[in-house]
Amino acid sequence: MTSKDLTNTPFLQACRCEPADHVPVWFMRQAGRSLPEYRALRKEGSILDAIKKPDVSAEITMQPIRRYGVDAAILYSDIIVPIHAVGFGVDIQPGVGPVTENPFRSTGDLQRLRELDPIQDTPYVLETIKICVEQLDIPLIGFAGGPFTIASYLIEGGPSRTYQETKRLMFENPELWAKLMDRLTQICTSSLLSQIDAGVSAVQLFDSWVGALSPSQYIRFVFPWVEKMFKEISSTGVPKIHFGVVTGELLQLMSEVGADVVGVDWRVPLDLARDRIGGEKALQGNLDPAILGAPWPVIQDEVLTILKLNDGHPGHIFNLGHGVTPNVNPEVLERIVQLVHQFRVNQ
Ligand code: CP3
Repeated sequence: MTSKDLTNTPFLQACRCEPADHVPVWFMRQAGRSLPEYRALRKEGSILDAIKKPDVSAEITMQPIRRYGVDAAILYSDIIVPIHAVGFGVDIQPGVGPVTENPFRSTGDLQRLRELDPIQDTPYVLETIKICVEQLDIPLIGFAGGPFTIASYLIEGGPSRTYQETKRLMFENPELWAKLMDRLTQICTSSLLSQIDAGVSAVQLFDSWVGALSPSQYIRFVFPWVEKMFKEISSTGVPKIHFGVVTGELLQLMSEVGADVVGVDWRVPLDLARDRIGGEKALQGNLDPAILGAPWPVIQDEVLTILKLNDGHPGHIFNLGHGVTPNVNPEVLERIVQLVHQFRVNQ
């Protein structure tokens, strides 16, 4: 099979802030529980086991593409996969998220975070990418968890509202925090580079919970590591998307750290986000996923408002402000894709 040139597909054009045929759209967590065909294929059992089966993961990646007609696919995997693969001792509990019985608390715990060798440790991820790339004629997005977000799961032992233990470690033992971030940065960087090598066309760094930090905390405890990660990936030329929620006060920093596309959640209007980020950067977002259960006219109005606030800027990838939740009716997402694709600036 000849390798496909996807350079001039709307999603990659928008990543480069170049005009495209239509505004591209995809949905975070599009591959997942809101699809009946996903539930039928996944059945019971750990998501981490499903991810280890490339034929299953590739099929789950493809399911939303067939149904929705989105402009990009996202690899079916999880941010915790590389950490699980190096043997830290972390699992994903249904309805909860990543959990660890022995949280990261002291220097000795660094031993549980050896370097990632993606070919040895996560061959199934690379195989899934290869199967998907064969089948797709739209770009495939690879991803990793941001070092803060991963660190928060390892330190807190599971999801948190306050990040108290994470912040305690940062301030009490900044040397250990730096070592932990070094390790996580190595793991995330080599995972992303291996995904690019296997054929993904773009990568997204999900630093989902980094909005828990103030700008000065971000500058001191996160910026240097994410900057290093993005620098190492830059040589590949693959666009880098940077995403988190509640990041209104961090948008500029999350751009300056080296992203090509900045994810915006629904709390910041898109025109204001563009002002904060400035320059020729693409934005991704930002429909509130919680309104997906509202009557269609409400959703339509919200979608059009976002598109109008973007005001025809070529660097816009339509998405939700966070992931699709399990109770969303897939038909709603299908209608949103059609609406976004039909939109023209002067309508
Ligand atoms: O469709 C896609 O976006 C691709 C697949 C994907 C998953 N997780 C599959 C998954 C992606 C990109 C992720 C990233 C991820 N995982 C993030 C960052 C994105 C975000 O939401 O901010 C985070 C924080 C995680 C950690 C995690 N994994 C959580 C919080 C959960 C939910 C737990 C639950 O059951 O409510 C998971 C499990 C998970 N990862 C599911 C899916 C489809 C659901 C569990 C299942 O289907 O068995």
